Amino acid sequence: MRVLVVGGGAREHALCLALRADPAVVGLACAPGNAGTDTLAEARPLDVADPHAVADLAVALGADLVVVGPELPLVAGAADAVRAKGIACFGPSAAAARIEGSKDFAKAVMAAAGVPTAASRTVGDRADVDRALTALGAPYVVKDDGLAAGKGVVVTADRDAAAAHAHAVLAAGHRVVVEEYLAGPEVSLFAVTDGTAIRPLLPAQDFKRIGDGDTGPNTGGMGAYCPLPWLPAGFGETVLEQVLGPTVEEMARRGTPYQGLLYAGLVLTADGPKVIEFNARFGDPETQVVLALLRSPLARLLLAAATGRLAEHPPLEWSTDSAVTVVAAAAGYPGSPRVGDPVLGGTGPGVLHAGTSRGPDGTARTSGGRVLSVTATAPTLSDARDAAYARLGAVGFAGMHHRTDIAAAAVAGLVVTPR
Ligand code: AMP
Ligand code: GLY
Repeated sequence: MRVLVVGGGAREHALCLALRADPAVVGLACAPGNAGTDTLAEARPLDVADPHAVADLAVALGADLVVVGPELPLVAGAADAVRAKGIACFGPSAAAARIEGSKDFAKAVMAAAGVPTAASRTVGDRADVDRALTALGAPYVVKDDGLAAGKGVVVTADRDAAAAHAHAVLAAGHRVVVEEYLAGPEVSLFAVTDGTAIRPLLPAQDFKRIGDGDTGPNTGGMGAYCPLPWLPAGFGETVLEQVLGPTVEEMARRGTPYQGLLYAGLVLTADGPKVIEFNARFGDPETQVVLALLRSPLARLLLAAATGRLAEHPPLEWSTDSAVTVVAAAAGYPGSPRVGDPVLGGTGPGVLHAGTSRGPDGTARTSGGRVLSVTATAPTLSDARDAAYARLGAVGFAGMHHRTDIAAAAVAGLVVTPR
């Protein structure tokens, strides 16, 4: 099987590693990739936002399977364009990817399917913002209805700050979703689906805020661990029954079957798990820890989903280890990151590249906000955490910063409840 991975983050580096390890894979390309993926996979330049460019590259490479990493190409129709060329694609159609592309659409699907989620109102003007903030109350949760690279959500007790974010989103021409605040620990649960059959992967936890102790602004994600020792027994089955199953059925009923990776962002509330968001793709950095523990060959699994044969796929096999990943970010992130600095230690074990590219001399340079995602596995979560931080100590670039508390509360036997 020849596989093309679309994207250029640490998620795609993790996908390339797992695909390379599948003996069914005879050719692997990653476009546009980064200074880590280009050591494992053929690198090709690509404008991922252009569905026809994605499809043309798949044809040029003779790909049997395209795996789309980020949401932007999916929402733009990359999977449709690839399938129109007769090539299997792991990833939802543009119509189905709206489950991530519009929070209001996701809410409508959940309402129709009876999926537990936060109460919400979608508003289009400033007067309605005020009414919605009053109706749903503090702490205020204000979301950009459209794609915002993980930075469209503000959660705050400060009503003026909540209103200011809503006004900025409206000024950018998007609608605003105001939501009920859900208290409890967050869980990311990924499921592979062909539109009918569903295979949940192991639950993971992401750390969204920039600072230790869940302080400061939201980011794309600063670290993750897997599995979650504090989850109640039967959590996966509950989410399959109450969330994933009804959602996949509702998407099919609407004539827009969902095929690819369905990412449920959940809060484990006192009343059970509730959805705070759906994503149409693998999460980053959770993928780095989930795939580190997957023992089943990845290409065969994704091809089975992409070709409607997931029901025939054998049960997934997992390592009993734990995995931890810590993101090394550039100075300025999540604002404007400093770029162009040499990356040291970038070829070390467990070092996955994100915002890196090669300079004129061929060495790796920083080129984005999240630069590296340093990952380790071990038989205990405590040892995995220590190993990930030890590996992080061997990488560096000017202005590098990272959280020091990834998986720390879980190692101490506590549950992490973001503020
Ligand atoms: P999202 O991009 O929708 O995952 O939101 C980013 C972060 O905001 C989440 O990871 C949560 O920490 C927080 N958040 C979003 N929605 C809610 C909610 N309804 N209640 C509490 N926190 C939320
Ligand atoms: N880790 C959060 C995301 O991928 O959206």
